[in-house]
Amino acid sequence: MKASVFSLAGAVATLLASFVAAQEGASVPTTSTAATSSYSCDPNTCKAPTCMCASQSPPGGLSPKDVPQMVVVTFDDSIQDSLYQTAKKMLSTTNPNGCPAHGTWYVSMEYTDFSLVQQWYASGNEIADHTYSHVGSPSAKEISSCKSMLNTYGGIPKGKIQGFRAPFLNYTKETLSNIAEQSFLYDSSASGVTDDAYWPYTLDNGMANDCWTGICASGQVKLPGVWEVPMYAVLDNKSIPQLMDVYLAGEPQDVTQWSLDAFNKKYEGNRQPFGIYVHPTHLTTYPGLPDPKPMLDGVLSFLQTIAAKPDVWFVTNQQLLQWMKNPVKASEFGQQDYMKCQQPVIAKEICNGLDDDHNNQIDDNLLNNCNFGTSNFKTCFNCPNGAPSLADPTPASAAQSGSAGYRYPVPDNCDSTWWDPIGNACLCTTTDCQYKEVVVTKPTASNSSVNPLGAKETSTQTISAASPSSLISSNSIILVALAALSVYLL
Ligand SMILES: *[C@@H]1O[C@H](CO)[C@@H](O)[C@H](O)[C@H]1NC(C)=O
Ligand SMILES: *[C@@H]1O[C@H](CO)[C@@H](O)[C@H](O)[C@H]1NC(C)=O
Ligand SMILES: *[C@@H]1O[C@H](CO)[C@@H](O)[C@H](O)[C@H]1NC(C)=O
Ligand SMILES: [Zn+2]
Repeated sequence: MKASVFSLAGAVATLLASFVAAQEGASVPTTSTAATSSYSCDPNTCKAPTCMCASQSPPGGLSPKDVPQMVVVTFDDSIQDSLYQTAKKMLSTTNPNGCPAHGTWYVSMEYTDFSLVQQWYASGNEIADHTYSHVGSPSAKEISSCKSMLNTYGGIPKGKIQGFRAPFLNYTKETLSNIAEQSFLYDSSASGVTDDAYWPYTLDNGMANDCWTGICASGQVKLPGVWEVPMYAVLDNKSIPQLMDVYLAGEPQDVTQWSLDAFNKKYEGNRQPFGIYVHPTHLTTYPGLPDPKPMLDGVLSFLQTIAAKPDVWFVTNQQLLQWMKNPVKASEFGQQDYMKCQQPVIAKEICNGLDDDHNNQIDDNLLNNCNFGTSNFKTCFNCPNGAPSLADPTPASAAQSGSAGYRYPVPDNCDSTWWDPIGNACLCTTTDCQYKEVVVTKPTASNSSVNPLGAKETSTQTISAASPSSLISSNSIILVALAALSVYLL
């Protein structure tokens, strides 16, 4: 248990993980109707901003034509340079208010470069928790260790790490209780297909998605104020729902067509968010392996096509939830504080994930390289004095406090884009950039959970329930495994 993930065993685990992920994320059962649901919610008592019933209609009584069509592009697993470049290409469009498109990255720890975690966040994107060692049905420690590392080495304020996605989308009611206890705002592991393509909702009245697993049965989940942001499937030309990595399911031109159809159905319907859920390894070119560029080009042209339509916004899941809590018309969306994109103006280059001195280099010569033999990561903060492990994700700093080069951790009253970890100073001097970490204590419904062993609602069943025709070929699986290996060797 003390074994570090930064080891060769870890590399093998990653190969296996990629193998399973490739199968598991590919599709969801066609039978995810609300039939097995006992979900009920009274909108007269469950009211925004703290409570929201699952519904296919837009919140706030808005007419669909006034609703911004939100698109969430999410990325899963480690952040590494080549993957980061792929993700940035996918977010190279602009929102109607002139701000860059933003997305959410669900980060697992192995192979993650923490300087890129910080840069992703500093440029306005969202960082979220995807566990320490990428395991299904994760323990509370798997979830909290990931959060600690994102905070310590990526500098993400704890209060800004609000989202969680279960590896392999394999969650149980205990997973959801754990994230509630650890003050996460939302989970995004459940799938929404057709009848259950709900807008995000709070779990005050339980789950309304993945009901075929039994998770919606009364008494299973009741977590006031915790949101579920369903992942929305695209139906392929055989009406099989494709969830993650839809581009693996067919030829680029076919995938583009299915995706456009699915998008238009929402855009011309109730305008629920549209999602593109990516493992960036699949879309990244590695030397000596088949080039996924045609797939990537297909995705990019699809993104550009929908970005060109009126009222289409590329948002993080946090931005989506800000809107859910206080829905405004599309015409007012761009003026909301959380949709603006001012960046800190700081006179010198500090280690804040930004190119403060505008020389096209981020944090020039300020990054630390933490090297543990089998793997290493960069960070603007201190290297630990030993390899992180699940039990001890943030060992003591290698540098002594006060010594030359020591990095001061982000305090709870400064956002990391304004924090100079070397100068030990918050450079924000005006009210608009002030930040104060708020410790939210959520009511824990988990105490009342009866018979934890009775919960058999695992997404593992997804594999066997999935139609064989929706599983990707074994060739692609090998390709994925090789890709992971080459990343390791690099
Ligand atoms: C999913 O969770 C179940 C039970 O919690 C576990 O037995 C199974 O191995 C998990 N599957 C994966 C792929 O993690
Ligand atoms: C459906 O898509 C698959 C995968 O791209 C393709 O091979 C097949 O020809 C398509 N079928 C029809 C009827 O369009
Ligand atoms: C629920 O459990 C937590 C931790 O085990 C405990 O601190 C809290 O008092 C319990 N709440 C109730 C209402 O029993
Ligand atoms: Zn994953």
